[in-house]
Amino acid sequence: MWHENQITQKIGMTYPIIQAGMAGGTTTPELVAAVSNAGGLGTLGAGYMSPEQMRDSIRKIKELTNHSFAVNVFIPEVPKVSEKDIEKARELLRPFREALHLPEEPEVTKPSATIFEKQMDIIMEERVPVCSFTFGVPSKERVQQLKKQNIMLIGTATTVKEAIINEDIGMDMVVMQGSEAGGHRGTFSGPFDKAMIGTMALIPQAVDHVTIPVIAAGGIMDGRSVLAALTLGAQAVQMGTAFVTSLESGAKKQQIEAILNSTEEEPVLTSAFSGKPARGIENEFMTKMAPYEHELPDYPIQNTLTKEIRREAAKQNRPEWLHLWSGQNVRLSKRQPARKMITDIVSQVDDLLASPPFR
Ligand SMILES: Cc1cc2nc3c(=O)[nH]c(=O)nc-3n(C[C@H](O)[C@H](O)[C@H](O)COP(=O)(O)O)c2cc1C
Repeated sequence: MWHENQITQKIGMTYPIIQAGMAGGTTTPELVAAVSNAGGLGTLGAGYMSPEQMRDSIRKIKELTNHSFAVNVFIPEVPKVSEKDIEKARELLRPFREALHLPEEPEVTKPSATIFEKQMDIIMEERVPVCSFTFGVPSKERVQQLKKQNIMLIGTATTVKEAIINEDIGMDMVVMQGSEAGGHRGTFSGPFDKAMIGTMALIPQAVDHVTIPVIAAGGIMDGRSVLAALTLGAQAVQMGTAFVTSLESGAKKQQIEAILNSTEEEPVLTSAFSGKPARGIENEFMTKMAPYEHELPDYPIQNTLTKEIRREAAKQNRPEWLHLWSGQNVRLSKRQPARKMITDIVSQVDDLLASPPFR
């Protein structure tokens, strides 16, 4: 059967379909469990969660499913940023804050790796079946510790070089994130603009250069793209944008509406919201900040500086100032239950394989 392979076997899922961990509230326990209960692998996006929030969500997921699920975390980054850069960013953001009636300037505390370490402890204590990483790789010691607990590890790469780094450190499988992908670029070894490789070119090159199974991500929205990814040598797909509009998604209504009503030209790259390049539907915040993008503090400082603006913009229904992460294959998005998306994809692949040119 087309859906049985090393990845489905190792993870213990029926279909090679992974719902991406999407930090910021999109991946509710209900969404994660619905995907896992439908035969895929649901992922909790825990990147921005406190350790306590993460533990609560993991426990809720366990109440809702007996199947495997994953938790996705961010490798911590501690950028060098000067007070001058922070002050400049504050100045640029002030008009948005004033228009939203936000009086208090946000505090910027020095980023630290403590939260990540606590997240790792919880993942081990709660015996989470699968843990995925983005923005880099954990230490070899950490990888060994997690593996001792039989936790399956998935890394993220945007180039063949990064796939090899993931393999060398001991990841069990690697997500190859094509340039079509929505959300942040996972690039961690070199400039992001050199790592904007489309899924079609990225997957076969990665498959030829690593021995761990490859998971395709970026622009995968239906049975056609799942079959294409498997044909290129991937053993599973990871889908983000398609699940943002699912009924179980916790995404802001403005983001869901924007995705359902956009075209392929609208999701573009920006660093304006977080200090790290990410693909989202173009809006006024992005175009106004674009001339200053190279002067903004790096992630996660800029993310902290814009956090309240984004939260308040959602509350006051100002989608023009909100991050609207989305991939490029946006016209294929649908508002439907996650289970229906998975069963539709499975029958689309079955139908394709039963018709010319496959049969
Ligand atoms: C709203 C949104 C949030 C995302 N957040 C994360 C995240 O927290 N961690 C992660 O590894 N990837 C994240 N991604 C990227 C996905 O893992 C994946 O690479 C991407 O969604 C694939 O492209 P697609 O959106 O076209 O399906 C996010 C993507 C979206 C659309």
